Amino acid sequence: AANPILRDSDFPALKNNLIIRAAKGETIERTPVWIMRQAGRYLPEFREARKRNDFFTICRNPELACEVTLQPIDRYAGLLDASIIFSDILVIPQAMASQEVQMLEKVGPFFPQPLITPADLARLTLAPNVHETLQYVFDAITLTRTKLDGRVPLIGFTGAPWTLMAYMIEGQGSKTYAKAKAWLYKYPVASKKLLSAITDLVVEYLVAQVKAGAQMLQVFDSNSGELGPDLFNEFLVPGLLQIAEKVKSKLKDIFLDVPIIIFARNSHYALETLSKSAYNVIQVDFTLSPEFVHSQVQRRKVIQGNADPSLLYADPENIRKVAEKMLDGFGTSQGYIANLGHGMYPDHDPEHLKAYLQSINENSDSLQEK
Ligand code: CP3
Repeated sequence: AANPILRDSDFPALKNNLIIRAAKGETIERTPVWIMRQAGRYLPEFREARKRNDFFTICRNPELACEVTLQPIDRYAGLLDASIIFSDILVIPQAMASQEVQMLEKVGPFFPQPLITPADLARLTLAPNVHETLQYVFDAITLTRTKLDGRVPLIGFTGAPWTLMAYMIEGQGSKTYAKAKAWLYKYPVASKKLLSAITDLVVEYLVAQVKAGAQMLQVFDSNSGELGPDLFNEFLVPGLLQIAEKVKSKLKDIFLDVPIIIFARNSHYALETLSKSAYNVIQVDFTLSPEFVHSQVQRRKVIQGNADPSLLYADPENIRKVAEKMLDGFGTSQGYIANLGHGMYPDHDPEHLKAYLQSINENSDSLQEK
């Protein structure tokens, strides 16, 4: 059976909707900020929770997922403008294969049985029922939005089709993604079949997250930068555009509407196309200057990003200077959400993240006056 549709009236009233208004392009009083991987191993309280439970146990247990989602919100009270549900992009391959994924110390995600040739697609369930396979994510979202008590909005997310396909073929992270890219060149028909199955599943998965309470969505195409413009345009663009269009249209049918963020990492060639899509916000990585981003996006979309995560190794004085320059470049009162250009690293100092968050808060006050 389908889940009930939960609406604003089913949850505590939202007290800080800055990021939602910013994502819709409205003029706002200060720059909202959240951080990719804001819940993670750089936090001692997360490492404590991880001592007791393995990674996917936390993902699959709504109470535990809720607990770690709230850790940065509690620690940085008043400094973060959004939460992101604790989970992983790899829950989708798990749902399709029941493809086993392990999370190994120092290696990261590991698939013991990666896809090798198109014949292996027969092992997958191309269209699994999202409620049978991923109900734990929806339960975690409903519980977390309730426990947030309206402090900040809750972001749901997914991996993008190519990034997920790449993990399913490589079996783990890779420097070149040569095995997965070989599929695009050698088996274009099978590749498109797999990408299109993942696209359909991702659409259903995102819609179900919103029905469960997610107030914003982000699509992570972390590996799109490996492709170059031709492969990107042929294999990724159709699915990426469809995800935003179909999710928006399915939500509209049930009178729901949430902003969607797209992150095509390290893909300068993606910006112009994405700026003409149905996404609301484009997350940019730290290789892109504000000038270049503006030249491609032409303010058609809200920008999110993008300081180098390694900036957080600097002393707080330096962190402040760089944050100020970033805010100057991207503008503050309209069309911009602050974040990093990629996620937190495990050895980051939580106090340095605090300095980054504070400088964004303080500087957007003073830039407001310009
Ligand atoms: O706080 C949050 O941002 C929400 C949770 C979240 C995680 N992963 C938790 C996680 C989110 C949004 C992700 C997305 C994700 N997962 C991406 C896209 C973003 C990106 O980084 O480009 C990707 C590529 C993955 C796949 C993945 N999961 C990798 C490559 C790794 C290993 C790298 C690492 O940091 O160890 C993971 C593991 C993972 N996902 C951890 C966390 C907190 C650490 C694992 C652990 O606790 O043992």
